[in-house]
Amino acid sequence: MGFWKSLFSSSETASGASGRSAAENGAIATEPRIIFSTDREIDLYELEELCDAVGWARRPLKKVKKALHHSFLVVSMWEDRGAKRRLIGFARATSDCAFNATIWDVVVHPEYQSRGLGKALMKFTIKKLKSEDISNITLFADPQVIDFYRRLGFMLDPEGIKGMFWYPE
Ligand SMILES: CC(C)(COP(=O)(O)OP(=O)(O)OC[C@H]1O[C@@H](n2cnc3c(N)ncnc32)[C@H](O)[C@@H]1OP(=O)(O)O)[C@@H](O)C(=O)NCCC(=O)NCCS
Repeated sequence: MGFWKSLFSSSETASGASGRSAAENGAIATEPRIIFSTDREIDLYELEELCDAVGWARRPLKKVKKALHHSFLVVSMWEDRGAKRRLIGFARATSDCAFNATIWDVVVHPEYQSRGLGKALMKFTIKKLKSEDISNITLFADPQVIDFYRRLGFMLDPEGIKGMFWYPE
């Protein structure tokens, strides 16, 4: 866990789990690194593949592109193996650019889950929002991930406040 912690205190790039480079380790193969990016120009097909992998319903790519374009923050998490880069996580946030932000579409590829990467992705996203002086961060949690968000400090119904939804009939 120490390695992932160090990720947030420094740059947006991290080396392999040992914290040492491949050369330092005497390895010949390039060690995979986990990289975070806030570049919103991401390959929509790659993003769709990631969302497919966790069983999310498909959304029209044109609308996804629009949503990314109008998001306040887009965070992608990549496994970098030198020549190859794979999208392994994603999150985005919408905001009024002053007080509030809402986090959407948090996902880690199933092959990379349960390694602390979801937590790393969320901490990176929160850090970015805080750096923009956003103080109120909200999200909508699926029932099966409430405890994941709780562990990150999110509260369910603080002071009895309930999320309310309006859906077209
Ligand atoms: C939810 C998700 C992002 C978590 O990513 P992950 O990389 O597996 O999570 P991590 O390994 O970083 O887990 C961080 C902590 O949360 C816990 N955790 C992870 N998933 C959890 C879950 N579903 N329920 C409760 N706790 C969970 C871990 O045990 C870990 O606890 P620890 O800090 O005490 O060790 C990932 O499972 C996912 O992409 N799920 C499918 C998409 C989804 O449901 N997204 C949320 C939509 S609201």
